[in-house]
Amino acid sequence: MTDTSVKAGQRPSLSFFEDMHPPAADFRADILAGLSKPQKALPPKYYYDEEGSRLFDAITEQPEYYVTGTELELLRAIGPQIRALAGRGAVVLEPGAGSSVKIRTLLDALDGPAAYVGMDISGEHVRSACEALAADFPALEIGALCHDFTQSLDVDALPLSPGARSGKRIVFFPGSTIGNFELIDALALLKTLRGWLREGDALLIGADMRKAGSTLEAAYDDEAGITAAFNLNLIARINQELGGNIDSGSLQYRAFWNPYRSRVEMYLVAVKDMRFTVGGQPFVLRKDETIHMENSHKFTIDTFQDLAAKAGLQARKAWVSQGEAFSMHWLEPSGEAC
Ligand code: AVI
Repeated sequence: MTDTSVKAGQRPSLSFFEDMHPPAADFRADILAGLSKPQKALPPKYYYDEEGSRLFDAITEQPEYYVTGTELELLRAIGPQIRALAGRGAVVLEPGAGSSVKIRTLLDALDGPAAYVGMDISGEHVRSACEALAADFPALEIGALCHDFTQSLDVDALPLSPGARSGKRIVFFPGSTIGNFELIDALALLKTLRGWLREGDALLIGADMRKAGSTLEAAYDDEAGITAAFNLNLIARINQELGGNIDSGSLQYRAFWNPYRSRVEMYLVAVKDMRFTVGGQPFVLRKDETIHMENSHKFTIDTFQDLAAKAGLQARKAWVSQGEAFSMHWLEPSGEAC
């Protein structure tokens, strides 16, 4: 029998670590392309360097940012229902690594889960997040995958033990990260995740809900200025890593609720005419011109289920938090995606 106990100073062992060699992102090319658009835009995936990740964690603790706390509370409340739907010996797959308290809450709720597989585009990140999880769940088979979760995945080819092949697969995608994608990309991602599932398996996904614009704008522009700092950190990163000289003191962070597109839109606004260079290329930003930073789409139960249905995912169950702030969906593969 394998000794799974963790000894002092030892890294908890994973059942496997697989590097699928996702194509490396080209930070320089993406930033220069974004700054060259008529509506300047920076890809939000670059928010999350070490400082950006620290700032995002701080956002989740701001009183106005209800998203994380509400989802966690909902997940705790519906734990027994999820346990019943999942059955014994489920295998949990998590696109985005399992460093958060949410995956621990789900694993605690499940009935003898057989395995957990975390995946992330950063091999180092996913390995350490999964090792931390292995320390908390020493009896669970835990694997880490360096993989771009927007790409297809042959789950059958993962080196899971035979015992971890019979239970339901549950793809867990919390946080309403789906809302940060353009709707067409969200649909493509849902189709990709559906491709990981067999009949009877499920996607358990969090989706933030439409609500008063004032609540949303406060959540995405907190009093303490953490979300503003999170956005300006990407400017600091561009200056540092691409030899830029953008004056972040001339940029003001703004979040707007766009009810027509059902999303919060985040921008940096120039408070005066600006000229700067990045990677040796010159750029001009006129007073009041904006750099589009991120969108966060908000859903109703119907709009989310309609999107899921287009991806070939049928709603088996939806749960809504108190005050209808946040929703979680249990989606199962249906016929074909359109
Ligand atoms: C990661 N994602 C779900 C966050 C959201 O709520 O859209 C990103 C975020 N950006 C600013 N605040 C939070």
